[in-house]
Amino acid sequence: MITFEDVEVTAWTSDPAGGADRVVRLLGPVSLALAERRVAVVGANGSGKSTLARLVNGLVLPSAGRVVVDGLDTADDGAAVRRRVGFVFTDPDAQIVMPTPVEDVALSLRRTVPDASERTARALDVLARFGLADRAHVPVHALSGGQRQLLALAAVLATEPAVLVCDEPTTLLDLRWRTRVDDLLASLDQQVVVVTHDLEAAARADRVLVVDGGAVVADGPPGPALAHYRALMTGASAAPSGERRP
Ligand SMILES: Nc1ncnc2c1ncn2[C@@H]1O[C@H](COP(=O)(O)OP(=O)(O)O)[C@@H](O)[C@H]1O
Ligand SMILES: [Mg+2]
Repeated sequence: MITFEDVEVTAWTSDPAGGADRVVRLLGPVSLALAERRVAVVGANGSGKSTLARLVNGLVLPSAGRVVVDGLDTADDGAAVRRRVGFVFTDPDAQIVMPTPVEDVALSLRRTVPDASERTARALDVLARFGLADRAHVPVHALSGGQRQLLALAAVLATEPAVLVCDEPTTLLDLRWRTRVDDLLASLDQQVVVVTHDLEAAARADRVLVVDGGAVVADGPPGPALAHYRALMTGASAAPSGERRP
């Protein structure tokens, strides 16, 4: 269970005109209890989706309120939260640090599998599970973008997190890879929170959150929530489209 209790995120911004720095609210107040297995987050660019996603594993901490994952407060128990919550970024290159897939997956297993040869064997098993067995020893830069995203996912899932948060995991992918990654996410046992611009993928979620201007403006089953979002984006509603509010 992921809960947001009156969560606000603020940040200091400098005035380009040379005036005093000021505090802007990036998100909130947001209160949520997310128990559904598949949660999709949609919203315009700059609306606050990544801020919301990053709150779930403590990459962003609330300026007010609290985020609690399975009883763990992200501000007090950050390390424990990050062991429970895996996070996948849009750009796999932000996440892959080793020269080959097998080394990269092995790196994420270093805490849970102390023996090096066992770790390599486990990493090879994980890569096979994700259809990357024949890529295990290939230099990472020789993989396609889709294969790199699959590798980033494999390295995170190797540690068997209870929750997976993905911030636009398919935005850089072509239709074939997007489908493959979406199908993989749909097949997982974990609770998955996915930020996406792919409304077909969002339509398969159990619950959809629509973020706009730093607020959750619609929340519910995909049908009505996505209809709200479409209306917002096409100007059928009077609401602004993701510009920041002060
Ligand atoms: N640390 C920060 N300081 C100031 N502004 C930020 C910071 N992080 C994000 N923002 C701003 O907050 C807004 C929401 O950002 P973000 O959550 O990344 O939106 P999204 O993922 O929906 O595109 C954007 O306008 C962004 O420029
Ligand atoms: Mg974002």
